[in-house]
This record gives sequence, structure tokens and C-alpha cells, in this order.
Amino acid sequence: MTRVLSVTSECAPLVKTGGLADVAGALPGALAGAGVQMRTLLPGYPAVMAALDGGEVCARLGDCFGGAARVLAATVAGLDLLVLDAPHLYDRGAGIYLSDTGRDWPDNPERFAALSWVAAEIAGGLLPDWRPEIVHAHDWQGGLAPCYIARGPAAGQVRTVLTIHNIAFQGLAPASRLSALRLSSADFTPEGVEYWGQISALKAGLVFADRITTVSPTYAEELLTPEFGMGLEGVLAARRNVLSGILNGIDTCIWSPEADPLITPYARPEGKAANKSALRAEFGLPEADGPLCIVISRMTEQKGLDLLLDALPTLLDRGGQLAVLGSGDPVLQAAFERAARHPNVAVRIGYDEALSHRMMAGGDAILVPSRFEPCGLTQLYGLRYGTVPLVALTGGLADTVIPATHATLAGKPVATGIQFHPVTAQALGNALARLCALYAQPKLWRRMQRNAMAHPVGWDHSAAAYAALYKGLPGIAT
Ligand code: ADP
Ligand code: GLC
Repeated sequence: MTRVLSVTSECAPLVKTGGLADVAGALPGALAGAGVQMRTLLPGYPAVMAALDGGEVCARLGDCFGGAARVLAATVAGLDLLVLDAPHLYDRGAGIYLSDTGRDWPDNPERFAALSWVAAEIAGGLLPDWRPEIVHAHDWQGGLAPCYIARGPAAGQVRTVLTIHNIAFQGLAPASRLSALRLSSADFTPEGVEYWGQISALKAGLVFADRITTVSPTYAEELLTPEFGMGLEGVLAARRNVLSGILNGIDTCIWSPEADPLITPYARPEGKAANKSALRAEFGLPEADGPLCIVISRMTEQKGLDLLLDALPTLLDRGGQLAVLGSGDPVLQAAFERAARHPNVAVRIGYDEALSHRMMAGGDAILVPSRFEPCGLTQLYGLRYGTVPLVALTGGLADTVIPATHATLAGKPVATGIQFHPVTAQALGNALARLCALYAQPKLWRRMQRNAMAHPVGWDHSAAAYAALYKGLPGIAT
């Protein structure tokens, strides 16, 4: 078994703000069958400590970025966890990244530098009975791990992989924090961790990791362009020979319309009817002739939901309906609440895992109009539940949905959804009109739903790709 330490700031089912948690939570199980033993290093937030129920102390650190810390080992929900119990960094209320003012915790650079530092210590032999061959860090929160490893005793012995889930978050800190982050001024150069006069934890990972991955092949290409690289396209271009895209999967046991305990289960699209009636009742929506569209999303600029507000009349004029579940930007939340004055629009502001299942089961179509989307998971749930995805042609959305075109609808139709480009309100409006036209052709619509439900969205293929990536690293036994 190849020993891999996954370093992540969130992990389902313990702590989640977005898709990273799902991926970090699913990877260990998916990789177990591919000859990989993955342990997961996670910060000891209150929710994680509560889930541990004790845990075994396997290391103590006297000074871990301003206080004492312990590494605890425990198995929770089938995950082999190593938890960094550092109360001065993680034992606080509000969010895992944001304080209750809605702003980043001021010491976020130190909080996640500590996580990365401890990953490097574990790579260097901190734990008495286990040492990884590979450290696989996720996003900027794990970004400093490859740098600390390259500068520490495990250099050249332990290999490193960094996965970019979202390049919009780069882990910036002022240069004055260099020594607080245990970085040397020798690394504060454009070839190192310096980024326009600041320290960038993500850039550190991109520079020092042996391999860089992101969560879809299309996003891997997009990242090399100024439009999507968000200032790091040059750094990535310099490392393009070690950059690849591996598509996310979803947990097809949790997201299974045949066996989902949160819905009226169904194996064929026809079985969605009971769920649709229940969903309409739950959201207070009337009967209608057009498609019942759903959105389940963080409300941020990335997700393009402002475009949906602009394009909404096209859907409503054709008898369509919209049910939204999401939270985030207060301005967007308020705009959706205003839109919900229309009888065919309903909105729930908040985060509700169970409701997201009921929506997936009851909706006809799921809308994902993202400006950029490294992979996206909700369109994958949509495929699985026969909830036809209407998506922007970008990133993982481009890689997972087969668009309804003349060619893919002709002969033996293979289309699974609808794509639009460019990502503008007008193009989205046109796509919504197209969605309504397809929905009005029940045979074709059923066919698309069946195609969607048959499309493979599990982890098998991608787990094999990660395993192959690990085993292709120098010095890793196959
Ligand atoms: P991102 O990570 O950019 O937010 P993804 O599509 O990869 O986007 O993952 C989002 C995850 O969070 C999905 O599992 C989705 O169902 C879930 N999610 C987002 N918003 C909500 C919400 N308001 N309630 C329940 N689940 C949500
Ligand atoms: C990020 C991306 C999303 C991706 C998720 C998991 O949050 O925004 O597209 O699916 O990470 O990789």
C-alpha cells in the first residue's frame, strides 16, 4: 500500500463549506481499492473535536504557531484521521474561515501554516509508527506543506502533490509575517513564495510540489490563461509539465435516487413525480406547465447567480419555476428574496443538506451558471437524479455534461444536459428558452433524463488516476 497523508482544511461529514469537503471525505475510501492507504490531517475545530470522542494522542508539539498542540489519531465515519488539536488556533465559534463579522480570521495565515507545518513534521517522522511516502495537500490551506517539506528533513524522501480546488483563494499574507510563518527570506522571491510583495501560500504549493493537480481537465487548461489563472497563470505555465486535471467524482451511495432515505426512492425518471409534488408543496409553488428548476449553491460572484436573476423572466414567461437553496453574499441573498415575490420563484437562504437531496429528487433541471467552476458537484448529483443540468461551458461543467446539440439529439440521442456560452445573462436566457422547449417534448426529455442517470459519476475512474499519479512519482513502489 502506498502511504499518503491528505492535508485539508475541511472534510465531510465532519466539517464542510463546499465541495472540497466532499472530495477530501471521499478520496480515502475511493483510493483504498487502488492500493493507497490515505490518512487525513485536519484542524481540530470544535465540530471535529466533538466527533472524535477523545482520540489517541500520538504526538505533542510545544510551540505550534503560538501555543501548545497535540496530534490525535481517530477513526471517524470510516476516515483514518489525524487531528491537529491546537486550541489557540482552532477552538473558536463562528465559521472555520470567517469570524462572526463575516471577515477572514486575522490569523488565518498562521492557522493553516500550522496545519501545513505539522504535515511536514509528520513527513519528517513525527509519529512513532507511521510515515507517509506522499503528502497530498489541498488548496492554499495546505499550500505551505510542499515548501516546508522541501526545506526540511524529509526533502527528497517524501513526495508532494498539491490539488487546486479553487484558485480564487490564494492565502495571501503581508511580507511582515514571513518569520511568523516560519519562512526564510531566501524563499521570498518571485521564484518562491512572493506574490506582488505578499506571501502566497498557494503559490508556495505551486512552486514546491512535485505534482500539481486540479479537479477537471478543462480547468487545468483554463488555469493557464489570464482569464482564469487569477494572476498565477505564469507560475502554472512554468510548471505545466507536472500539472494535470483529474475530475471529481461523487459518493454514489449517499447520492443514490434508488436508495436515498431522504426522498421517495426511484430508479427511473418517472419516479421523480412524487418528489416533485412534495417539493412544490414544501416551497409553496403552484402547479405549472414548465420545468421546475433548482439551484443549490454558495452565493458568490463565482456562481453567476446574478446572471440568473437577469435571465429569470425568460424562464417564468415560459411557465417555468425556480427553487433556490443557498447562502453567502448578502446582496445576492436579498436579490433572490425579492425575486421570490413572484409566485413561481421560491428561495431558502441557508445551508440544508437534507433539503438539497429533496430538491435534487424533485427538480426537473438544475442550473449552474458559474463564471468559473473547477469541477462542480451539484451538476453530478443532477445527472445521477435525472435532474437535467443546465450549465455554463466552463471547467468541470464542460467535462461532465454532454450538451443537447443537433448532433447529440439525432439518431440515438446521447445528450445529458444543456450548456451555454459565453457566460452572460443573454446566453443563459437563450439556454433557459431551450430548456423549456426540450421539456415540452416529453419523449426527448425522458431520454435526456435516462442518459443523465446512466452517466458514470462515481469515483472509480478518478481514483485510479490519482493512484497512477502517486505511483508515477519518483521512488514510490508500485
Ligand atoms: P463549491 O465547492 O465551489 O461550493 P461544488 O459544486 O463543488 O461547489 O460543491 C458544493 C457542495 O456544497 C455540494 O455538495 C452542494 O450540494 C453543497 N451546497 C452548497 N450550498 C448548499 C446549501 N445551501 N445547502 C446544502 N448544500 C449546499
Ligand atoms: C471548489 C470548486 C468546485 C469543486 C470543489 C471540489 O470549491 O469551486 O468547482 O467542485 O472545489 O473540488
